[in-house]
Amino acid sequence: MCGIVAYVGGQPAYPIVVKGLKRLEYRGYDSSGVALVDNGQLNIYKKKGKVTELENLMEGKDKSSTVGMGHTRWATHGEPNDRNAHPHPSNDHSIAIIHNGIIENYASIRQNLLGKGHQFVSDTDTEVLIHFIEEIRRETGQSLEASVRIALKEVVGAYAIVIMDQENPTQLIAARKGSPLVIGIGKDEFFFASDATPIVEYTKEVVYLDDYQVAVVSHGELTISDLDNLPAIPYIQTLELELEAIEKGGYDHFMLKEIFEQPRSIADSMRGRSNASEGTLQLGGLNHYMDKLAQAERIVIVACGTSWHAGLVAEYLFEELARINVEVEYASEFRYRNPVIGENDVVIAISQSGETADTLAAIEIAKQKGATIFGVCNVVGSSIARATHAGAYTHAGPEIGVASTKAFTAQVTVLTQIAIAVAKRKGVLQENIYRQLLIELETIPEKVQQLLENADKVKEIAFIFTYARNFIYLGRGLNFPVALEGALKLKEISYIHAEGYPAAEMKHGPIALIDEDMPVVFLATKDGSYDKIVSNIQEVKARKGRVIAIVTEGDELIPGMVDFVIEVPPVHEILVPLLSVIPLQLLSYYIAVMRGRNVDQPRNLAKSVTVE
Ligand code: F6R
Repeated sequence: MCGIVAYVGGQPAYPIVVKGLKRLEYRGYDSSGVALVDNGQLNIYKKKGKVTELENLMEGKDKSSTVGMGHTRWATHGEPNDRNAHPHPSNDHSIAIIHNGIIENYASIRQNLLGKGHQFVSDTDTEVLIHFIEEIRRETGQSLEASVRIALKEVVGAYAIVIMDQENPTQLIAARKGSPLVIGIGKDEFFFASDATPIVEYTKEVVYLDDYQVAVVSHGELTISDLDNLPAIPYIQTLELELEAIEKGGYDHFMLKEIFEQPRSIADSMRGRSNASEGTLQLGGLNHYMDKLAQAERIVIVACGTSWHAGLVAEYLFEELARINVEVEYASEFRYRNPVIGENDVVIAISQSGETADTLAAIEIAKQKGATIFGVCNVVGSSIARATHAGAYTHAGPEIGVASTKAFTAQVTVLTQIAIAVAKRKGVLQENIYRQLLIELETIPEKVQQLLENADKVKEIAFIFTYARNFIYLGRGLNFPVALEGALKLKEISYIHAEGYPAAEMKHGPIALIDEDMPVVFLATKDGSYDKIVSNIQEVKARKGRVIAIVTEGDELIPGMVDFVIEVPPVHEILVPLLSVIPLQLLSYYIAVMRGRNVDQPRNLAKSVTVE
């Protein structure tokens, strides 16, 4: 969602800010803007559309300002247009703000300010906030910094903000509540951003702002305090992120790069945790909580989107291996349902970004009710990682493509490891199966590599189905969540309508859709439900559906029944999702590319969904 970049120091701010905005494009946005101070004058430039449109607008403008801030907006209040884009100035145009999040009580504040003569030019909550700060400063005579604190105590909602003042061009004021903000510390220069990607090429020293903290950079000094102005000591961390990890590295799209990174990212998510030759499996972050997990009466998994699909895979794993009752909840439903949950329950929150608003809210509710919460997050130091009692990072590395790929396989890998470790601790997993699973886990990166080497076969199939209008994905057992994930990948980046179903459910309705124009993707690997899925394939073929089957290498039956076959290497059936999802990622990618879609930034989507 919205992206923030700001700079103050000795260099011209504009190139740094605009490059940072491009690095944040992956988050999803519909307009962008920058604010600079030229000759003591605050200048704001905003444009609907891509950052390149903003760059065109900036041609010929003075760009020498050494303070500047920029924003990519994902519309919430008011349609995407130049007027609603950020930055927003105050009424007197002396200060400006960029903002991520939502000010929920903006309407009443706006009403009040209208009575005091303020004129608003946008439909946004953000413009109201900067006018509010301006009004407080005018009425109280306090400094800008103090006025920001007073205003933030009044507002309800979530925010990460940066404020610039034309009177004070060495100063930037920032604050956060519920929306991430990171500060990069360079040599006599400071960077502010929604995540570390715009900062990493300049400095690795960063401070993640906490909720209710205000950061002020003034004359080359950074101070952090809370809303009551009580000082906090900045906790400076060193970024582990490398620049190459956030660049395309020769691939046409980030999504393709991330699909092809999976042999490495899956290996990284296992590194230092499982060791087949020694027969050991340990997840550092969960060490102290293994008994809690093993004794859990119930595990409740909360997540959204692709992470929810990883949760569905985990449901099968925990039930099958550890014999623990599992419920998988959409975080957005869970949070508004007064869920029955208590001290004996364990909640696992799964999130790539670690910033998803619904998942965060679900965690808070479960916490209030006394449950122990574990996080499975990718982004280190993210809000969800910090809100949980303990957890395991997925170590997939930055995921820039909006469609989640390597994050999914890393989540499934980590959840598989947790399920195996808990089953072992409970004493319900036979030693030989435990050993076999550890050995087979180690073969996954190599098997994924093998699948990727056959990407051209998937590309050929994609070519044939490029203009399909609908798709159905069917699977059973552990392959059912994979079917859902395949359908989600296709719809989000190609805009083709696609549905995932448990294969046996087909005859309860969706079978009515089957005809010679309906491609049906079957997840038909060799497992306990193989014979059943063969029958389901026959039901579709009898109605002339066109079947693409994902089968286990060496299958001699299904290839004779279907139109197209993609083989995956044999593996223990518990681990199948890690392989069967790969061709589905590739299929959606190639179809989207052939349809000319913007694969990395599909329409209307945001990478981290920080509003509900
Ligand atoms: C799909 C996708 C989304 C996310 C969902 C949750 O490709 O990326 O469905 O999975 O928005 O996001 P996280 O995992 O960041 O909580």
